[in-house]
Amino acid sequence: MAKSSFDVNKLLSQMTLEEKIGQLVQFNASLFGSSAAEITGPLEKLGVSSEQLKNVGSTLNFKGAGEVIALQDKHMKEDRNHIPMLFMMDVIHGYRTIYPIPLGLGASFDPELVKECSEMAAKEASAGGVHVTFTPMVDYVRDARWGRVMESCGEDPYLNSVMGAAQVKAFQGDDLSDDDRLATCVKHFAAYGGAEAGRDYNTVEISERLLREYYFPAYKACIDAGVTMLMPSFNSLNGVPSIANKWLMKKVLKEEWGFEGVVISDYNAIGELKKHGITDDMKKGAEMAFDCGCDIEMMSSAYINHLADLVREGRFSEKMIDNAALKVLELKKRLGLFEDPYHGASVEKEAAVCLTSEHRAISRRAAEGCAVLLKNNGVLPFSKSVKKIAVIGPLATTNEMKGSWSCNGENEDCITVYQGIKNLLPNAEVVTAQGCGVEWDNFDRSGFDEAVELAKSADAVVLCLGEYQKYSGEGNSRIDICLTGVQDELAKLITAATPNTAAVVFSGRPLVLKALDSHAPAILEMWWPGSEGGNAVARLLFGDANPSGKVPMSFPKALGQCPIYYNHPSTGRPKMTPEEVHQGYASNYIGEGNLPLYPFGHGLSYSNFVYETLELDKTTMTKDSEIKVSITVYNDSDVVGKEVVQLYMHDLWASTVRPIQSLIGFEKIELGARERKTVTFTVKETMLRFYDAECNFISEAGEFTLSTGCADNLLLTKSFTLEN
Ligand code: GLC
Repeated sequence: MAKSSFDVNKLLSQMTLEEKIGQLVQFNASLFGSSAAEITGPLEKLGVSSEQLKNVGSTLNFKGAGEVIALQDKHMKEDRNHIPMLFMMDVIHGYRTIYPIPLGLGASFDPELVKECSEMAAKEASAGGVHVTFTPMVDYVRDARWGRVMESCGEDPYLNSVMGAAQVKAFQGDDLSDDDRLATCVKHFAAYGGAEAGRDYNTVEISERLLREYYFPAYKACIDAGVTMLMPSFNSLNGVPSIANKWLMKKVLKEEWGFEGVVISDYNAIGELKKHGITDDMKKGAEMAFDCGCDIEMMSSAYINHLADLVREGRFSEKMIDNAALKVLELKKRLGLFEDPYHGASVEKEAAVCLTSEHRAISRRAAEGCAVLLKNNGVLPFSKSVKKIAVIGPLATTNEMKGSWSCNGENEDCITVYQGIKNLLPNAEVVTAQGCGVEWDNFDRSGFDEAVELAKSADAVVLCLGEYQKYSGEGNSRIDICLTGVQDELAKLITAATPNTAAVVFSGRPLVLKALDSHAPAILEMWWPGSEGGNAVARLLFGDANPSGKVPMSFPKALGQCPIYYNHPSTGRPKMTPEEVHQGYASNYIGEGNLPLYPFGHGLSYSNFVYETLELDKTTMTKDSEIKVSITVYNDSDVVGKEVVQLYMHDLWASTVRPIQSLIGFEKIELGARERKTVTFTVKETMLRFYDAECNFISEAGEFTLSTGCADNLLLTKSFTLEN
């Protein structure tokens, strides 16, 4: 669509103060008569009149193009200025065709795949009437107890940054008025993933140095990529809730980063200033949030009930309201809503573009590319000539595999593992038994015998385990991150009965798989794979697809290790395993070491990738030079496969403790049978910088290493010196 020439300044000049404030308010579609609207937060008593609703500027959580068109028509008729509403939704990993959860996308280490998935989601969602998606969520995470790790791309700031920026660019394209594009909203600023003890909404106390080094980069990368909106987080950060945190919202976001996009509160976050104990006076809440630059208030009524008074009392000028309202009107203009209030949506178009075979193929390839082969003693890939396959476990026949935040996706759309294997091997006998439940408090063992007998009768066993998909996502932090119920016991019996067994794990987080690892010959992590999960599992297990994902967040050996992450400083007594000899007191736990079961960057393949050389074009560099790093990988097998070539940096000596490894580059490459490729990275001085004790962003002369492989398992390393 041609760029809009609509005069928003003229429109603004015709609006009353209350009407301008209406543009700064967002309510759930249920308040506008939607019977199907999903509620994504607590419903507080809002105290808003139907008259006030006529001025509201945006809504969220509606259902489909038909409803959007009806709501938009009704609203524009009732609004004196006939201003179209913005329709926003959490299109996190698909609209109707669901692809893997973002933690799985992180595991793909494949920005191109993320681009393809995001563009598909934008096309479907836009046809369904969505204008803005509350995506990407780029919260940095370290504690797998937190329910929303599923929504993040993991424990590395660089990986999170690359994947966040890829989503922004793919959803938005070059022109928001394009019918197949959406505006994006980066969230949750800041450090929501740092909630103490992995408990959702809990307090976050993190030093400025750590915030800047680990938690901030991905938000900034999305802003640099052109994200349209930003959502502050629910949590208090160093004592002050983000929505009212002047240091965060004014000094960092506005003064340092120069963010000029629209800031929207999270669901009732202004209202929750009461629960935080900051103020029970919503006029004060409105003042604090607006002063911190929050333009739109989502699902609380502080602005609509008090902002006009704050202007009349001189606390804010009407010009400040104008500026905020203009940002919202400008966004509507960029989306072309003044020319087409539906942004290209229609019931027919939504039906035509959603869940097509082409989109299913994208979802399936994404599920394949996100899967991580954690262990394989050679049992995989299974032969496709097997006669009888037993699909066993509580997730063997479930279609609940789309994960949390799956928008308009339906369980009924999802292909089960059982069905996926039947689809792939129509002539094989495929049998199934549940064996046990997946609920955390289900200790029923009565299904064991039947499952064991079935396993014994089969040529190959696919053991489908994990956690209930409802055990991750918002408000679903877990007190334990084991395989729920008696799944470990079932796995032990099944693997003892049939050595030709592979375990497939479905989860929204890294689980503690130490027991499973001790007896399962192979373990494939699928995350929540989405609509094509079962087909992807079948193709991966029987070799039609070759696993290529890598661990984006460390898998602990024990819950007590949480939070556990690869990019930690050494400490004064770095004893990583109980076996290491250490004089005197050691840092590891009684009963367990400090290493994870599966480290960041780990992931196996059916190919055999040999890392032959890592070469530097120089061994000294200055602040204005750069080093070329060339890594040569050989596929010593007959199987085509993809490999994520990772580059890690370690600053050996610095004024501030430094991580033992930091990912500074990665590239996913495909290698044919017996093919050799060289990947070259460029290392600049800026990549060596860190925040020192006074939060100066600096590099320091000295010795560095560059390595490849994965965290805790570096294969090749070379040193260089940064000179002053
Ligand atoms: C939720 C989430 C946020 C989401 C919003 C709208 O509470 O915290 O991520 O975008 O409400 O659904």
